[in-house]
Amino acid sequence: MTLSMPRLQSPQTGFFQPGRAVAGSAEAIAPIQVSSLDVFYRDLHALADVNVTVRPGKITGIVGPNGAGKSTLMKAMLGLIPAAQGEVSWGETSLLAQRERLAYLPQRAQIDWRYPATAWDVVMMGRVRKSGWLRKFSATSKRAAADALKRVGMEAFAHRPIGQLSGGQQQRIFLARALAQEADVLFLDEPLTGVDKKTEAVLFDILHELADEGKIVLAVHHDLGPTIKNFDEVILLNREVVASGVRDEVLQSEFMQRAYGGWVGAAA
Ligand SMILES: Nc1ncnc2c1ncn2[C@@H]1O[C@H](COP(=O)(O)OP(=O)(O)O)[C@@H](O)[C@H]1O
Ligand SMILES: [Mg+2]
Repeated sequence: MTLSMPRLQSPQTGFFQPGRAVAGSAEAIAPIQVSSLDVFYRDLHALADVNVTVRPGKITGIVGPNGAGKSTLMKAMLGLIPAAQGEVSWGETSLLAQRERLAYLPQRAQIDWRYPATAWDVVMMGRVRKSGWLRKFSATSKRAAADALKRVGMEAFAHRPIGQLSGGQQQRIFLARALAQEADVLFLDEPLTGVDKKTEAVLFDILHELADEGKIVLAVHHDLGPTIKNFDEVILLNREVVASGVRDEVLQSEFMQRAYGGWVGAAA
């Protein structure tokens, strides 16, 4: 699967629950609204008064220099670290109240790759919420996991221990786990770290498909090279939001200089 190939699966062919969130259906997904968000790590004011909207049907990037608070923003939105102030709402209620509709791919460094599980086990973890820990996985869950593995081009590796796969293959397995969850919101923290070109193409292909299906796709991205073109919208961050909105409007030099302190180059 490469970026130039046609999208592999139409929204109707079964990856997501039939009748839900199909592009053009009545059940449109609401945007996520972050309002007045402040996060502190002891004395460090890591995020100051963040106000952003993350829209469905788009791929949104969180961009900014190292230490800008990109991962912190994602984690605070997910409730993994506490906010001193502010809220993250999604439709009628908070994002956290709907956490079963969220999938999260953490930064590679935060995953223990020695974990003694096969690729299949890891993908099936995406089904736990739907099946419950104590119940056996249903045929539906097994099918969802198999579909997800196929979608990332890893079906031949199902029985390999995760630790024996290459970085790119591991990242695809974790993407498959997120897909198996059939979430409406996908958060990814620097998903391209340590991956090969093939994985990069598979990843963006899938992110474009999910966005086309009307889902919310938010990724921390620290490469300002050509891959940035995959993003429709950008949140440019450096402790506070420097700019956010349509990619090319945000990535103009005035905002970039403000975010990167005058240095505008390749990777941050
Ligand atoms: N658990 C933590 N405890 C204390 N400081 C932290 C913690 N996590 C991150 N930080 C600090 O908060 C700032 C933002 O970090 P982070 O969100 O990881 O930035 P980014 O993802 O943009 O590189 C950095 O200065 C970092 O050192
Ligand atoms: Mg980070």
